[in-house]
Amino acid sequence: MIGEAEQSVTITGLGCHVPDRVVTNDELAQYVDTSDEWIMERTGIRERRMASKEEALSDVALPAARAALAQAGVDGKDVDLLIVATVTPDMAFPSTAAIMADKLGATEAAAYDLSAGCTGFVYAVAQAYGMVAGGLSKKALVIGGDLLSRILDWEDRSTLVLFGDGAGAVVLEAAGEPGFLGFELGADGAGGENLWLPGSGSRIFDQPDRYVKMNGREVFKFATRVLVKSAEDVLARCGVSVEDVDVYVPHQANVRIIDHASKKLGFPSEKVVVNVDRYGNTSSGSIPLALADAVADGRLRKGQLVLMTGMGAGLTWGSALMRWSI
Ligand code: UT7
Repeated sequence: MIGEAEQSVTITGLGCHVPDRVVTNDELAQYVDTSDEWIMERTGIRERRMASKEEALSDVALPAARAALAQAGVDGKDVDLLIVATVTPDMAFPSTAAIMADKLGATEAAAYDLSAGCTGFVYAVAQAYGMVAGGLSKKALVIGGDLLSRILDWEDRSTLVLFGDGAGAVVLEAAGEPGFLGFELGADGAGGENLWLPGSGSRIFDQPDRYVKMNGREVFKFATRVLVKSAEDVLARCGVSVEDVDVYVPHQANVRIIDHASKKLGFPSEKVVVNVDRYGNTSSGSIPLALADAVADGRLRKGQLVLMTGMGAGLTWGSALMRWSI
């Protein structure tokens, strides 16, 4: 799916939150046969956050949502659409979005979860764009977040070291001037078994698994391909060149994947947001956390063009191009 935005819809608030507990590479090396050196060299990850036993996704996402609403100047009761992009909801049902709506006093909101792996945030933002552009929603709250630590196998070094917990939220509203310029979204179900959680739903497996299973090399190849293609496609569709983009926010999975995509696309490193070293791969939280970092370090300012591209389980990918307006 690809398209230029026809209506002026933008982000009016952004918030993020990560759990307090910092887990270093050295700490993980106590559980699996790995080392800080290997993890740094192959992934660029130095540490990640992990939720406590008492915290569920809605607890980690709540401060992010509150911060986004505060920046937008929107009350919970005025939110009419609440989407939570996640693969680690509090539970299968009620949806984490419904739980969040209750916590935020968003009694007038349609609320549901969306599952698109690490691309979930971009999918949810595109969907909220459509609802606001179509007049169905006036104030949409999109949350992207995951507690992947809950579904990691603490005996599998090939996945344990990669992921972390975190969440981000944005408010979308109609605007006087263009915010979103276009989107490109896609999925390749044929590659689904390269990153999956078999045994987590209605399909019966002989050996059900509660943990993430991943073919890292295949996902790596997929990631380097789609990050480039999706970005090129949305830029071409919107008539924007790479040079025009001020800030590039790729999914934070592995610094080698980010470097590959940035070089291939032609982004100089000062335009590329990288925080995978501090948070690991936070799945649906990755892009909003990176946006918040770019705002905090002064790189992402009002009026600048920002390109976000996610990729993940499904396999899925998605890009959003927008003019930042806060
Ligand atoms: O949102 C999407 C989520 N997933 C991803 O983005 C993952 C994409 N893939 C990757 O980032 C990389 O493929 C990995 C970081 C997962 C692996 O890096 P790699 O350079 O592709 O390593 P590899 O899979 O080719 O493995 C090389 C070696 C293997 O040992 P042998 O078979 O050569 O003896 C692995 O067993 O590294 C070993 N290895 C480790 N060694 C120390 C795998 N994980 C670890 C580890 N510590 N944590």
